[in-house]
Amino acid sequence: MLYRRRSRTLRVAGTAFALLLSACGTAPTAPPAADRIDALIAQMTLEEKVGQLSLYAAAGSGDDPNPDTNRQSREQQLAEIRAGRVTGLFNGVGAAWTRELQRVAVEDSRLHIPLLFGADVIHGFRTVFPVPLAEAASWEPALARRTARVAAIEATAAGLQWNFAPMVDISRDARWGRAVEGAGEDVYLARQFAAARVHGFQGDDLAAPDTLAATLKHFAAYGAAEAGLDYNTVDISERSLRDTYLPPFQSALAAGAAVVMTAFNEIAGVPSSANPDLLEGILRREWGFTGPVVSDYTSEAELVTHGFAANEREAAWLAFLAGVDISMQSGIYMKYLPGLVRDGAVPPARLDQAVRRVLLLKQRLGLFDDPYRGVDPTREAANTATPAHRALAREAARRSIVLLSNRNDLLPLPKRGRRLALIGPFGAAQHDINGPWTLFASDANSVNLEQGLRAALDDPALLTVVKGSEVDAPIDGGIEAAVAAAREADVVLLAIGESARYSGEAKSRTEIVIPLAQQALAEALAATGKPVVVLLRNGRPLVLRGAVRAAEAILVTWFLGSESGNAIADVLFGDYSPSGRLPVSFPQAPGQVPYYYSRKNTGRAAQDPQTEYQTRFLDLSNEAAFPFGHGLSYSRFAYGEPEPDRAQLAWDGTLTVRARITNTGSREAEEVVQLYVRDRVASVTRPVRELKGFEKVRLAPGQSVQVSFALRRADLEFIGRDLKPVAEPGVFDVWVAADATGGRSKSFELMPP
Ligand code: GLC
Repeated sequence: MLYRRRSRTLRVAGTAFALLLSACGTAPTAPPAADRIDALIAQMTLEEKVGQLSLYAAAGSGDDPNPDTNRQSREQQLAEIRAGRVTGLFNGVGAAWTRELQRVAVEDSRLHIPLLFGADVIHGFRTVFPVPLAEAASWEPALARRTARVAAIEATAAGLQWNFAPMVDISRDARWGRAVEGAGEDVYLARQFAAARVHGFQGDDLAAPDTLAATLKHFAAYGAAEAGLDYNTVDISERSLRDTYLPPFQSALAAGAAVVMTAFNEIAGVPSSANPDLLEGILRREWGFTGPVVSDYTSEAELVTHGFAANEREAAWLAFLAGVDISMQSGIYMKYLPGLVRDGAVPPARLDQAVRRVLLLKQRLGLFDDPYRGVDPTREAANTATPAHRALAREAARRSIVLLSNRNDLLPLPKRGRRLALIGPFGAAQHDINGPWTLFASDANSVNLEQGLRAALDDPALLTVVKGSEVDAPIDGGIEAAVAAAREADVVLLAIGESARYSGEAKSRTEIVIPLAQQALAEALAATGKPVVVLLRNGRPLVLRGAVRAAEAILVTWFLGSESGNAIADVLFGDYSPSGRLPVSFPQAPGQVPYYYSRKNTGRAAQDPQTEYQTRFLDLSNEAAFPFGHGLSYSRFAYGEPEPDRAQLAWDGTLTVRARITNTGSREAEEVVQLYVRDRVASVTRPVRELKGFEKVRLAPGQSVQVSFALRRADLEFIGRDLKPVAEPGVFDVWVAADATGGRSKSFELMPP
C-alpha cells in the first residue's frame, strides 16, 4: 500500500535503507558512460558530492517567481560554484552570462564539473506561445510538440539545458490557479500533450545542443488540492491517484522525460517530497525511472511546516532517503547531508546513487564533452524571436481559440463596412497578453488586441477603442463612454476577463467569475441592443453570467502570447475558422466545482428535475454551461451513428468504431471528432464517459469523411480492486461525438479470455 508508516529513528531507518538499496539492486550495471562517472565520484569529497545535489535560483536574475528564501548574492554564488557546492542555477539566462558562470565552474573548481542551467520555460521562451491550457484547446499534440521544440531552440541558445516543464497535473477544480499550466481535466488528452511536450523539449538526443532536459511536475496529484486552494491538502484514494493523476506522468516518462519534480502537497498525510512509496516505490521500482528527482522550491524544507519533520536536519534526512536527489533552493542538503552521512543516518551508497543520477544527466546533455554546448551571443540572437517562430506563435494561438457561441452566425465579421467598438480593459492593453509563467519575454513585444484588429481591417478608422473599466475596478465615466461608443457602432467587441495575475502559482480564486466592474460594463453594453462579441481572456474555466453569457458570440482567447492580437483578428474576421475545443468544462456556477465530465453515475443518478432524492442540487442542474470538448466553427458538421465493426471484442482482439462526419455548412472548417466509452458494469464504479480517442479533421463544404478509431482491451483498462490495471469482460457503450455530452451511442461486448 502507498501509505505505509515510516520509522523515524535516524540510524535504524538509515540501515534499513541500505538493505533496501542492496536488495532491490537499484544500481544498474554501469554502462560504459557511467564508468567515467564512477571514477569521478570516487574522487569527490563528501561536500562536493552534496554540492552536486544543491540547486539555486540564479543570483540577481530578477526573473525567478518564487519567495525570497535562502537567496544568495552573486559573489556568494560564485564562491559556492568555485567550491564545488552548486550543481546548477535556475531562472538566470543569457549566452554570455551562462558562459561566464560555466567557465568558473569548469576552470576554477577542483573537479571542473559543469553546471546545469535550468528554467521555467512553460510556454515559450522569448517567443511566447499560448499558455498550456490554451494550447490543449487545440487538441493538437503535434502542435504542442512544435512549440516546445522552438522553445527549446530559443532557450538553449540562451544557455539553458534543463526545463522545469511540462507541468502534467490534472486539474478539475477551476478555483486552482495552476490549471493554466496543464492540459485540463481529462486523463487521455493530458497524456497526449504530456508526451508531445517532452518530445518537443528533448528532441531525439539530449546531447544535441538545442535540446532541453524535460522535468515532469508536480509529482504527485498537486492539482487535487482541496478547494482548489494552492498547496493545500490532497486526500485522495490510491485508486484515484493511479487512475487519474499518475497516467500523464507515465506517458511522459514513456516519452523519455529526464527529470521528475516533487509536489508541495501531501497525499493523505504524507508530503510528496518525503514519500518513499511514491518516489522509490511507484516512480523507481514500478515504473523503472532512473533519472534524478528534484524537489520543488524548498518543498523538502517545508516538511517542517507540514509538521512532518521536527527540524531541517530531519527534513533533509526524510526527503533524501525518500528519494529526492536534488534540493531546490533551501540549501538544507548542503547544510545537513554531510553530517547525516558521517553519523551513519544516510548510507554513502544512497549519496553516490543520487550523485550518479545527476552526473549521468549532465553526461546525457553532453556537458562533459562541451560544457558550453556551443552557446554564444551570435547563436542566441540568430535563434530568438525569428519570423518563423512568430509565425508558429500565431498559428498556435489561432488554433487554441474556442468559439463557445455564435448566435445568428454573427461571426465571422467582414473586414470592411462595419463600425466596430472595441471595449474593455484588454482592448488596447499592452499587459496581460502573454499570461503567467512568461519569465523571459515581455508583453511589450506581443501584439495586443487593438493592434491585431487594426492590422486586419481595411479601414482601421472604423475601429473605436474605449476602455470602459479597469480589470478590477470601474472608471469614472467609463461605462458612459463605452455606451456612447457602442451606440455609434454596428458591433461591440468586448475584451474582458482575467488578469494574468489571476492565474498561475498561489493564484486560487473562490469566485471564478468575470470581475464585477467588467460585468457591469457588459450589462450596460447589452442594454444598448447592439450585438456583442465577447473576447474572453482567461487562465481557467470561468462562470459566465448575465450579459456575458447572453452575448451574441463568445470567443475564449485565453492568454495567447506573442501573436495574440493577430490570431484573434484571424478568427474574428474569418481568415481562420475556429477549431479549438474546451479541455476543461465551463461550469454554470462556482458552487459546482470541482467539475469534470467523467463523473460517476452514483446510486441516485439525476434523471429529471421533478424526481426527488437524486444526485442533484436544489438550485441548479448538473450540466456544465459549456461541456468538455465543446467548440464551434464557422461551419456545421453532421455525425453519423457510431458503427462498431463487430458486436464483440475478443480478449486479445481489436474493434474498430467508425462514424461518418459531414461538413454541412458553407465554409471549409475543422472538427475535433471525439471517441467516448463507458464501461457499464465493473468491479469498481466507472465514469459515465471517458475520452478514448480524437481526431481533428478539415472538411470542405459538403465533404464527408469516415473517421475510425481502434479499441483494444488495453484501452478499456482501469485500476482494479487490487490497485493494478485491469480490464473486465462486459458491455461497453461507445460514442463518436462533438463533445462530452453529445452523440448517439452503440454498444459492444468485451469477451472473456
Ligand atoms: C515553483 C513552482 C515550480 C517551478 C519552481 C521553480 O514554486 O511550483 O513549478 O518550476 O518553483 O521556479
